[in-house]
Amino acid sequence: NREAIASGLSSSVYLFDEVESTNSFLLQNLGQLASGDCCLAERQSQGRGRRGRQWISPYAGSLYLSLYWRLPGGVAQAGGLSLVVGVLLVDALESLGITGVSVKWPNDLYYGEAKLAGILVEMRGQYGEPADMVIGCGINVNLGVDAAAEIDRAWTDLRLVTGEPVDRNRLANAVIRHLQQGLTLFEAQGLAPFIERWRRHDRYLGKPVRILLGESEVLGVAAGIDANGALLLETEDGIRAFNSGEVSLRPL
Ligand code: ATP
Ligand code: BTN
Repeated sequence: NREAIASGLSSSVYLFDEVESTNSFLLQNLGQLASGDCCLAERQSQGRGRRGRQWISPYAGSLYLSLYWRLPGGVAQAGGLSLVVGVLLVDALESLGITGVSVKWPNDLYYGEAKLAGILVEMRGQYGEPADMVIGCGINVNLGVDAAAEIDRAWTDLRLVTGEPVDRNRLANAVIRHLQQGLTLFEAQGLAPFIERWRRHDRYLGKPVRILLGESEVLGVAAGIDANGALLLETEDGIRAFNSGEVSLRPL
C-alpha cells in the first residue's frame, strides 16, 4: 500500500510485488534517485546478505526495504554507517512499542538469541567524490514455517516477538522516517551522536567473544566500538580494533 507507506514522506517509493533484490533495483537506477528514495518488495527472488550469503525472502512475510542516500563526503564518510542503521531500526521498532531488540556488530538485529533483521549497505563512488549509498534492511515480520525451515540458524520475527500481527505499512513508514532523519544527522555529524545508543543496545558488550579472521580467530571480551565504528576487543595483548569488511563476531 504505497499511500500508507508514504504518508508524510516527500520521497519516491518504488513498490514491487517481486524483484531480485531491492538493493539491486536501487543500484541499477542510481541516476534517478534522490536521498531518501526507497524500494520495497513483497518478495525477493535473490535477496542477499553480506559476502554473497542468501537472505530468505518469502512472500508477504517480511519487510524488504532499501533506501538510497548520497553522502557528499564520499566513501570516506561512510564508516560506521551500518551501525547507525542498526540503531535507527531499533529506534523505529521502539516507536511502535517493540522493545528489547539488540544489535550485533556490524549489521544484525537480534531478539534474545535469535536473528530478527539484517542490514546490507552497498556503496558506489570514486574516492574523494560524493558517494551513493544503498542501505538494505530485511526485517522478519511473519516468516511462515516454509521459509523458516530454510534458515540455518536461530531466527525470530516480529509476530513471535510481540505475540500479535504487526502492520507492515506502519513498520515501513516508521523505518523510512527514522532512516531519513537519522541519516541527515549522520551526514552532518558522523557516528558520534550514535555511539552511546549503540552501547545501550550492544548484545555483546562486556561478554567473551571470538573474532573470525578467515581461518584464524582471536579471543577476547567485546568492548564496544571506536569513533570509526570498528569493533573493540580486549585481548591478552591489550585492546585491538577490527573493521567490519574482514571479520565476523561470534559468542564464545
Ligand atoms: P556475520 O557475523 O559475518 O555478518 P552472519 O552469519 O550474520 O555473519 P550475514 O551475512 O550477516 O551473516 O547474514 C546472512 C545469514 O543470515 C545467512 O547466511 C543465514 O544464515 C541468515 N538468514 C538468511 N535469511 C534470514 C532471515 N530471513 N532471517 C534470519 N536469518 C536469515
Ligand atoms: C545480512 O544479515 O547479511 C543482511 C541481510 C540484508 C537483507 C536485506 S532485504 C532488503 C535488501 N535487499 C537485499 O537483497 N538485501 C537487503
